[in-house]
Order: sequence, then C-alpha cells, then structure tokens
Amino acid sequence: MYIFADMTKETQYSELLEEIRSVIQDEKDTVACMANVAALIHERFGFWWTGFYRVIDNELVLGPFQGPVACTRIRKGRGVCGTSWNEGRTIVVPNVHEFPGHIACSSLSNSEIVVPVFDESRNITGVLDIDSREFSTFDETDAKWLENICALIKI
Ligand code: SME
Repeated sequence: MYIFADMTKETQYSELLEEIRSVIQDEKDTVACMANVAALIHERFGFWWTGFYRVIDNELVLGPFQGPVACTRIRKGRGVCGTSWNEGRTIVVPNVHEFPGHIACSSLSNSEIVVPVFDESRNITGVLDIDSREFSTFDETDAKWLENICALIKI
C-alpha cells in the first residue's frame, strides 16, 4: 500500500514536471512563470498554500502564490523560509508547531516544505514554500521533484 501510494506521487510529479516545462519554456518573465508554477502545483495536489518568495534587497519578499493571504517579508534565518535560504537547502517540516521560529501565516497549516531556487552561479534568488493542513505531508519524494521543478525557474 505504501509503495503504491509512493508510485502515485511519483507519477503525479512526473506529469506535473512536463506540464510546468511546457507552460514556462517559452516565457522569459520570471514572475509570470512563478505564477503558473504555483498554480499548477497547487491545483494538482490541493495544498493549503503554494507560493514563492524572492530575494530582494537581502530579504525574502512575497511573490506569486495560491492560497490565503501571507506575510510579505521574511528576514534571513527567520522561519522555515529564512532558514532554507540561510542554509541553502530544502527543509521538510512534518509538524510546523515544533519548528523553532516558524512564522504562522495561517493557524491551519500543520506541515510544510521549503525549496531554494538557485541561479546559474548557485546564488539563492528565492524559495518555493508549500504548506499543508495535514501533518507529515512532505517527504524525500516531494523534495526531489520540487527541486527539479525549481531548477526550471530562472529568477
Ligand atoms: N511558513 C513560513 C512563512 C510563510 S507562510 O507560511 C506562507 C515560514 O515559517 O517560513
């Protein structure tokens, strides 16, 4: 049952990656691409909140997203997003209430994943943040595919 569930997720992401590739491949505008990427991820999995923060003047600034209103600016090292930016790695949080300094934009969010977006020089130019109302929604499979998706985005 577990293996079947995991195969389903792999298949979903594999289809999603192709959709994203075809939607953004001919578009040069980064914000337009991020907007459609957020929408495609959000629609496919029905997450609570899916969106981007962009690094602007050494802060994370809210970018295109799907879901309820969110905080607009996050400093380096703050919350899950700021920690992912600071440490330059994907962070999977099974229970946000146990993450020190978690920024609760919505009290209904219980787990999340944050994936950094890199430019060609490996500088972090933003993060993809996805929140779920369920606990332990995200795992290594999500991390792998969402990193592949973020690699398609040029900020
Ligand atoms: N969860 C984030 C804050 C952003 S909102 O959830 C959209 C964090 O702690 O970094």
